Amino acid sequence: MRTMLFKVFSFLILLLMMMMMMLILSCSASVSSAQEFEMEALLKWKRSLSDQSQSVLSSWNFDPRNTSSSAISPCSWLGISCNDAGSIARINLTYVELEGTLDEFDFSALSNLSSLDLHYNALTGKIPPEISNLSKLTILNLGYNQFHGYIPKEIGNMIELNVLSFSNNLLSGSVPAGIGNLTNLSVLKLANNYLSGSIPPQLGKLRSLIELRLNLNNFTSSIPSSIGDLTSLKVLSLYGNQLSGPLPQEINKLTNLTLIFLSNNSISGLLPENICHGGILEDFCASNNLFTGTVPKGLKNCTTLTRLRLDRNNLTGNISEDFGVYPKLDYVDLSYNNFVGEVSPNWGKCRLLTSLKISNNYVTGVIPSELADASLLHFIDLSSNNLEGIIPNELGKLKSLFNLTLSNNNLHGSIPPELGMLPDLAYIDLAANNLSGMIPKQLGDCSKMLYLKLSNNDFSEGIPVELGNLVSLQVELDLSRNSLSGEIPWQLGNLVKLEILNLSHNNFTGSIPSTFDQMQSLRLVDLSYNGLEGPIPDNKAFREAPSEAFTHNKGLCGNYTGLKICPPPFNNGKGGSNSLVLILVPLSAASFIWVIFIGVFCILKTKRRNKISNKLVDSQHQNLFKVWSYDGKLVYADIKVATEGFNSKYCIGVGGHGSVYKAKLSTGQVVAVKKLHQIHYSKLEDQKTFESEIQALSKIRHRNIVKLHGFCLQARQSFLVYEYLERGSLAKILGKDEQAKELDWTRRINVVKGIVNALFYMHHDCTPPIVHRDISSNNILVDGNYEARVSDFGTARLMKNDSSNWTGLAGTYGYIAPELAYTMKVTEKCDVYSFGVVTLEIIMGHYPGELICSPPSFSSTSSSSSSSIALSLSGLNALTNMKLKDVLDQRLQTPDPELADEIVTIIKLAFSCINANPKFRPTMQQVSQELCTRRLPLPQGLHTLALKQVLDLDIQVVED
Ligand SMILES: *[C@@H]1O[C@H](CO)[C@@H](O)[C@H](O)[C@H]1NC(C)=O
Ligand SMILES: *[C@@H]1O[C@H](CO)[C@@H](O)[C@H](O)[C@H]1NC(C)=O
Ligand SMILES: *[C@@H]1O[C@H](CO)[C@@H](O)[C@H](O)[C@H]1NC(C)=O
Ligand SMILES: *[C@@H]1O[C@H](CO)[C@@H](O)[C@H](O)[C@H]1NC(C)=O
Repeated sequence: MRTMLFKVFSFLILLLMMMMMMLILSCSASVSSAQEFEMEALLKWKRSLSDQSQSVLSSWNFDPRNTSSSAISPCSWLGISCNDAGSIARINLTYVELEGTLDEFDFSALSNLSSLDLHYNALTGKIPPEISNLSKLTILNLGYNQFHGYIPKEIGNMIELNVLSFSNNLLSGSVPAGIGNLTNLSVLKLANNYLSGSIPPQLGKLRSLIELRLNLNNFTSSIPSSIGDLTSLKVLSLYGNQLSGPLPQEINKLTNLTLIFLSNNSISGLLPENICHGGILEDFCASNNLFTGTVPKGLKNCTTLTRLRLDRNNLTGNISEDFGVYPKLDYVDLSYNNFVGEVSPNWGKCRLLTSLKISNNYVTGVIPSELADASLLHFIDLSSNNLEGIIPNELGKLKSLFNLTLSNNNLHGSIPPELGMLPDLAYIDLAANNLSGMIPKQLGDCSKMLYLKLSNNDFSEGIPVELGNLVSLQVELDLSRNSLSGEIPWQLGNLVKLEILNLSHNNFTGSIPSTFDQMQSLRLVDLSYNGLEGPIPDNKAFREAPSEAFTHNKGLCGNYTGLKICPPPFNNGKGGSNSLVLILVPLSAASFIWVIFIGVFCILKTKRRNKISNKLVDSQHQNLFKVWSYDGKLVYADIKVATEGFNSKYCIGVGGHGSVYKAKLSTGQVVAVKKLHQIHYSKLEDQKTFESEIQALSKIRHRNIVKLHGFCLQARQSFLVYEYLERGSLAKILGKDEQAKELDWTRRINVVKGIVNALFYMHHDCTPPIVHRDISSNNILVDGNYEARVSDFGTARLMKNDSSNWTGLAGTYGYIAPELAYTMKVTEKCDVYSFGVVTLEIIMGHYPGELICSPPSFSSTSSSSSSSIALSLSGLNALTNMKLKDVLDQRLQTPDPELADEIVTIIKLAFSCINANPKFRPTMQQVSQELCTRRLPLPQGLHTLALKQVLDLDIQVVED
């Protein structure tokens, strides 16, 4: 009985256990099959993507043999989140460079998806209509991809959508009317596509909309009045379309607007009266439209404004009365309208104002001295008005002033010398006024000056020699049409970056200084209508100038069209003294190494002509694009968008050949884009050569050379695309105490070694060898791991000496080998010299001016076959008593003993590299070997070692 009972009992228990197990099994089976369905859909999509993208999604895999629960669940896959039931609810894959389409995406399998965010990738193809099967979707962001085709009309079924963004794609066609179905939308962004047609009136149904961005499309006709129904709207961005007609009255109902962008359309009629009714308007941009009438009263007391752009319309009214005091205003542009009245002193009360632009109106009265109270002002443009009176001295208090444009007015008096104290002043345009007196010599202190135009005034006496200090002056120096007299100071020849020089219509006498020979960047000169005589400088711009540039002088001569031949020099006392100046100048201008640079390339003329496999030649426009394997046109468009049309706020550097911009491409990749100055090809042959050389450069891979991703050559705009290095240049790092301290001795040694590696590779491993020609601390970039990368690689040699841009050709002043002043021969040893200068700069923490500015002299004491480094720097005697430790960057601690001998070797090598005689400089191979060899311990500690002792340590150099 007992056994019987026991048997029944244990049978029941067994039964129960089996039932439980079955239940568990069936349960888990049902969960995994639903998940499997979703997983399969994602894996199918993954397989349709590029190999690269598939490796990004490596966590997306499913091994049915491995049944551990973590291997089954997609919830841990990259970018995937699940809901409580284990079903996929959110996909967020942004900035991962996905390449492929959505064609294989099985939307119906992901019925629980509430958020799909794929912005910032490289997806292409069409947006499939099936996407509307995602009926629970609240967030859909496909922005910053390369989708093309139409917006599917089925989008109107996705009524749960709260956020919808298709911005920055290539979508075309019109916006489907069904968009009006999406009444839950709070954010709608369709900006920067090729959408056309009119803005659908159905948008007015989107009552919850807070942000509407339709800018940069091809929308036409007028703005629908239903826009007035979007009463929650805070951001309305419609700029850059072809909208026309007046704004609808109803726009006045939008009292919650804070940002309004209407610029670059053809909108007419009046500005909205109640635009600041809600008292929260911050940014109002309506520039470049056809607005008429006066400024709305509501703007006068709109104290929340930070930016106001009404420029380029047909607005009227009195600006002294229509604007108030705006404590938060940063930027105001009222230029190119029909405003009358005066410049109100109230602008000075806008304490955060940085830009004040009221040019090209009918403004009268004087420039109020109160403007100087807006102490952050950096841009003042009041040009082309009817202003009178003087330029107030108080403007000299505007320490941030960068651009002062007051041309085309009736200003009189002299230029306040106080302007010379403004450290950032780079643009001065005071042309076409009634200004008089001397040009103040203090202007020579504006060390960042790029543009100085004082033409069409009544300035008298001579040009102050101090203007020769404006070595950064590059764009233009125009002193024409004044009453200036005397000789042209030879110091102006120091303006080696200058491209346009106009001294015409003055009373200058004497000869043109022969120092002008060295102004290799000059493109345009005009010296006509003066009393000049003697020879024309030997310089491309002068040689090629039309004869009108020299007409109406006393007796200019030269072997050029329209001029008489100069008499032989022995007949001409003037000519003799000129050549004396020619020799004396470089010796006397201490901080300036005089350079005549003739582009003779070290490289052999045999060009590596690589097959251009994937370039695209647009035969209509003769354009060449080759950027990665992408469509070059798209990348070009992409770069333009990413830099807002090469806006200066993305500019991270300006070099000889062009400006460098940081661009975040739509793929998420960040690159450095070097926009080259215009290149003129004299022959198709030249273009081909240039092309194939860049092609060769883009193939070069070395870990200490910045990678050239690609390039785009066009007649109008050419650029090179490099990898972007966030720490920037060595010059920048050494210039900032904090960053310089982070670059400790170990890192500095490593940077030097990196440069050695790169130059060694270029000189000895490349056939033909490549000479960089512009090694300077500006061209050495540093990556996140403090590894050096040589940049601007090869662009120097790519620039032909007959191109209009000479600036970069001459290398960077202060780093150029002295023999380039005497010979035309560029060799690898030029790079060795520059390397020596940069290396000293790294060790000392600043440009080693005190060691190398003295005029070089050739060593004659060395024997011819093999010699120790013979230092021939004339300044060196003064250094012999210097302690080694005084040469080290004082911002760092004295290096540890184990680093000391390595640093000493580097210093020693650096000095041998800056030997004035190229013959006695080591090769990069020797430098590299020397750095690698084991070093003997130093005879004594760094503290007491004299610099001379270091330099006396023998380095054997074998001549080649
Ligand atoms: C997706 O991830 C990115 C980066 O983490 C984030 O900025 C974005 O807000 C996320 N998208 C959604 C919809 O959560
Ligand atoms: C609006 O949504 C409904 C479903 O709610 C759908 O039947 C209709 O076709 C949609 N209209 C448009 C124009 O897309
Ligand atoms: C935009 O419209 C203009 C003028 O109608 C037209 O020339 C241009 O081709 C259009 N652009 C696109 C991309 O549709
Ligand atoms: C305006 O914005 C405020 C604050 O965001 C909000 O409380 C208010 O409801 C909005 N007004 C309208 C008409 O939507």
